[in-house]
Amino acid sequence: MTELATPQYKPVQETGEIFDLTRFGEYLQFTVVAPGIAEAYRPGQFVAVAVGGADTSMLLRRSFALYGVKPGGDYAGTIQFVIAAKGKGTRWLFDRRPGDSLDLVGPLGVPFPVPRNGTPAVLVGGGYGTAPLLPMAELLIAADSEVEMIIGAATADRLFGQLPAKRLLGKITVTTDDGSAGQRGWVTDPLPSAIERLGAEIVYACGPMGMLRAVGEVAKAHAIPAQVAVEESMACGIGVCMTCVLPVRGSDGVSRFVRSCVEGPVFDAGRIRWADVGSVPADLFGADGN
Ligand SMILES: Cc1cc2nc3c(=O)[nH]c(=O)nc-3n(C[C@H](O)[C@H](O)[C@H](O)COP(=O)(O)OP(=O)(O)OC[C@H]3O[C@@H](n4cnc5c(N)ncnc54)[C@H](O)[C@@H]3O)c2cc1C
Ligand code: FES
Repeated sequence: MTELATPQYKPVQETGEIFDLTRFGEYLQFTVVAPGIAEAYRPGQFVAVAVGGADTSMLLRRSFALYGVKPGGDYAGTIQFVIAAKGKGTRWLFDRRPGDSLDLVGPLGVPFPVPRNGTPAVLVGGGYGTAPLLPMAELLIAADSEVEMIIGAATADRLFGQLPAKRLLGKITVTTDDGSAGQRGWVTDPLPSAIERLGAEIVYACGPMGMLRAVGEVAKAHAIPAQVAVEESMACGIGVCMTCVLPVRGSDGVSRFVRSCVEGPVFDAGRIRWADVGSVPADLFGADGN
C-alpha cells in the first residue's frame, strides 16, 4: 500500500518581477522572481495572481498551477506558471512584459501526496495540466520511482511540456483528439497499458474535470489510487468564499462539500462524487439539515 504524507505549507504574498515570458503554442509561460513562494512550494500547489493593475475592477485573483520552481541560490528564487488566454484576467496577463511586477499569493493548496521511495507511477497531463506534473515527475525520479508520462490535448498547439517531459523521461506518450500530434485519441487510451507495463501503484493527473474523472475510473479498474489536481472555479483561493466546493466522500463514508482551494486542489479521484459536481446531493452532510 502506498504511504501518503501530508506536508505542511505556508503561503506568502509577494510582489514579483517578471523575469522571462516565453510563448509555447497557445500558452504563455511566466518566470517570476518570488523567493518566498519558491522556497515553500511543493508539486501540485498553485499561485493566486492579482490581475488588472492598481485601478482595476477585477478584484478576484486568478489561480495558476506552479511548476519549474527554482529556490534561491546565487539568484533569488523564481517560480514558473503557464497560462492560456480565456477571459479578461488572463488576457491582461498576456499583455505583461519582462520587468513588469505581479502581485502573487502562494504557494496555495495541498500538494500531491508523495509515495514511498521506488513506487512506480504514471503521470497523465491534459493541456496546460501537464505543467504541475513535471516537478512531480522530477520528485518521483529522485525517489527512485519508475515513471511514465502521458500528455494529451485537443490539438497539437494545446499540448504543453513535451520537451521538458522528454528530457526528463527519455520517452513519453502523446495523444491528441484530432491526431495532429502523437496518437489520435484520449490520454486514457494508452493509460491501461502504461499502468500494466510499469506495474504502477499510483496515477497522478491534472487536466480538465472530464479527463480526471476518466483517469480515476481507469485507476480504479486497476485497483490503484489516482491523485488528481482539480481546476474548480476559484474566487478567493484561500478558503473564505466557498466558490470552489466539491462533493467529496470522506474516509468515514460521509459526503461533504470541501473547498478545493484549501482542502485540494489535489484529491483522491475515488473520493470525488464526479456525477454530483455542480449540484447539492440530498445525502450530502448538511444538505437536508442533518
Ligand atoms: C488550482 C487551479 C490551477 C489552475 N492552473 C491554471 C494554469 O496552470 N494555467 C491556466 O491557464 N489556467 C489555470 N487555471 C484556470 C485559471 O485560473 C482560469 O483560467 C482563470 O481564472 C481565468 O481567468 P480570466 O479572467 O481569464 O477568465 P474569467 O472567466 O474572466 O474569470 C474566471 C475567474 O474569475 C473569477 N470569477 C469571475 N467571476 C466570478 C463570479 N461571479 N463569482 C466568483 N468568481 C468569479 C474566478 O476566480 C474565476 O476562476 C487554474 C485554476 C485553478 C483553480
Ligand atoms: S476559492 Fe474561495 S473558498 Fe475556495
